[in-house]
Parts: sequence; structure tokens; C-alpha cells
Amino acid sequence: MFQTIEDVCVVGAGLMGSQIAVQSAAFGKRVRLHDVSDKSLANSRQAIADLANDIVAAGVAGGQCSQSILDRIHYTTSLDEAAAEAQLVIEAITEDVDAKRGLFHQLDDICPPSTVLATNSSSIRISRVESATRRADRVLNTHFVQPVWKHPFVELMRGSVTSDETMATVDAFMKSIGVLPVIVRKESTGFIFNRIWRAVKKEALRVVDQQIATVEDVDRTWMILWETSMGPFALMDNVGLDVVRDIEMVYFEQSGDPSDAPPQLLLDKISRGELGVKTGKGFYTYPNPSWQSPEFLAQR
Ligand SMILES: NC(=O)c1ccc[n+]([C@@H]2O[C@H](COP(=O)([O-])OP(=O)(O)OC[C@H]3O[C@@H](n4cnc5c(N)ncnc54)[C@H](O)[C@@H]3O)[C@@H](O)[C@H]2O)c1
Repeated sequence: MFQTIEDVCVVGAGLMGSQIAVQSAAFGKRVRLHDVSDKSLANSRQAIADLANDIVAAGVAGGQCSQSILDRIHYTTSLDEAAAEAQLVIEAITEDVDAKRGLFHQLDDICPPSTVLATNSSSIRISRVESATRRADRVLNTHFVQPVWKHPFVELMRGSVTSDETMATVDAFMKSIGVLPVIVRKESTGFIFNRIWRAVKKEALRVVDQQIATVEDVDRTWMILWETSMGPFALMDNVGLDVVRDIEMVYFEQSGDPSDAPPQLLLDKISRGELGVKTGKGFYTYPNPSWQSPEFLAQR
């Protein structure tokens, strides 16, 4: 048995929360998007307007206009208002286990007992968060990949006691918003994709930190070899370098292995406020980063 989800609350209106919200709205769901920051909500409103246009232009939204997508999203700084009637809450706040536990505790008090609580965390297993609630059977990891509408798959991972009904409910919800659910069969920090991506990211950072190669040359080799449109450093800029650092810290705290610590190269960028696309500078400068120019892969 599963419940059909029509009312969704997304908590955290940053890069991922905005994308999850617009994807849900594009497939007819009523969405309440909450953030503690007015500025984040204002930025999100603009990002969502652009995303809705992209989604409509790509024909993903079944012929509806972008305004009808936007009309289904309500923005609020009140968590009570956002979550009180939600059937499913998807959390996409900062990658910090204490912050997530605090939020899940609040949500547990606000939401009806049947509401499913999901985290979009990249590296924090729901089993580290579930005891902050009294509904450990109705919590799980739902790990989306950005841009959601272009890469429509999501990794679903249970906690210690997540019920089959919860899994079935969320599996059906994801299919109903055009996203393919992939089941992680055992608890795994980094799920499936991120474990593989993390190995690439860690070595790419180390190769440049150890001055073995430049950022550009690492990305060039990757793009040519794998025939992809961007390399690991361009992708890290897209993710956000502070988010990359936070994720690396989770692995480091878990292993204690010094080679897992975020390298100085990354920390220096962050201390200069160079966080990637969102601040206009990271490993590349934006808009129009050099990796997007036709000369980037030209023979020199
Ligand atoms: N960036 C990615 O590509 C990516 C991909 C998959 C998963 N994730 C995960 O998704 C989550 C969000 O990542 P992001 O890149 O969107 O981060 P982000 O920094 O872009 O956005 C986070 C937002 O959360 C808000 N916030 C912080 N604490 C809050 C609270 N207690 N209540 C409400 N809002 C709060 C912030 O104001 C901010 O707007 C993280 O757990 C991250 O690991 C990120």
C-alpha cells in the first residue's frame, strides 16, 4: 500500500531545494518552499522562474505554461505554514547533521503523523537523523542530482526501520514527477553515484593541490576521454565549493584518514568567498567560463 502525494513541502530554497520544488510543481504537485533566509527565497524565486521556462521549452511539463508551474509554488519563511499540511517533506538545507536533526525534530512536531520526511543530503545517512523524530519508519534519504529536470533520477535509501509502505509511497511519488527512483540496497555513505563521483573528485583535487596538473588540463583530459560536456572542476563549481567541502568533511570525520581531508586548494578558495557558479568565481569565472568556449578543447 502507498499514499498518493499531492502536497509537498521543500525545506531549503538553495540550489537543490529550488530544483526539487519546480520539478514537483511541473508535474502538478502543490509545493510549499521554506527557507530561513528571505534572500535565499528571493534568489530561489528567480531561479525557479528560469527553470520553469527551461522545463517548458524542453517539453517536459506536458504542454503547460511556465506560469501555471509557478502558481503552484508558495514561498514562506514560516516552517509551520510550509509543513503543517504536507504529505511529504523533502529537506535540502545545509549539509550539517546537527542542523538536519534539529529540523527533523521540529518537523516531527509540526507534521501529521502520516507525513513522510526525506533528506536530500549528499553524505549524511538518514539513520543518523531518524532518532530526532518519533516516526523512524517514515523517514528516508532521497538523493537527487542536479539539474533535476535534465538528470531525472533519484537514489532512495532506507534508515534502520523505514517501512515498505514509506518506500512504496516515495517510489510512486518520484515516478509521478518524472524522476526515476534507484534503490540503494544497503546503507552507504554517498549512495551509489556519489561514491563513484567522490573518488573522481578527491583525486582531481589532489592532482591539482599537488601541482601535478592545472584545473583546466584535468577537465580537458576528462572531457576528451569520457566525451562529456564538462570536467570534474566545472562540476564542482556547479555544485558549490562550500558544499563540496562539507561533503568531504563527512567522509573525513568517518574515516579519520588525512588523505580524505579537504585539500588546502579547496579551503583557500572558500576562504576567499570563491564558491563557484553561485558567487561568480570558483575554479572558473562566471558567466562564460573558459571550459565552455570552443577553444578549450582545441589543439594547441
Ligand atoms: N549542490 C548539489 O549539487 C547537491 C546535490 C545533491 C544533494 N545535495 C544536498 O542537498 C542539500 C542542499 O544543498 P544545496 O547545494 O541546495 O545547498 P545551498 O547552500 O544552495 O542551499 C541551502 C539552503 O538551506 C537554507 N537553510 C539552512 N538552514 C536552514 C534551516 N534550518 N531551515 C531552512 N532553511 C535552511 C539556506 O538558507 C540555503 O538557502 C545538502 O544536504 C547537500 O548535501 C546537494
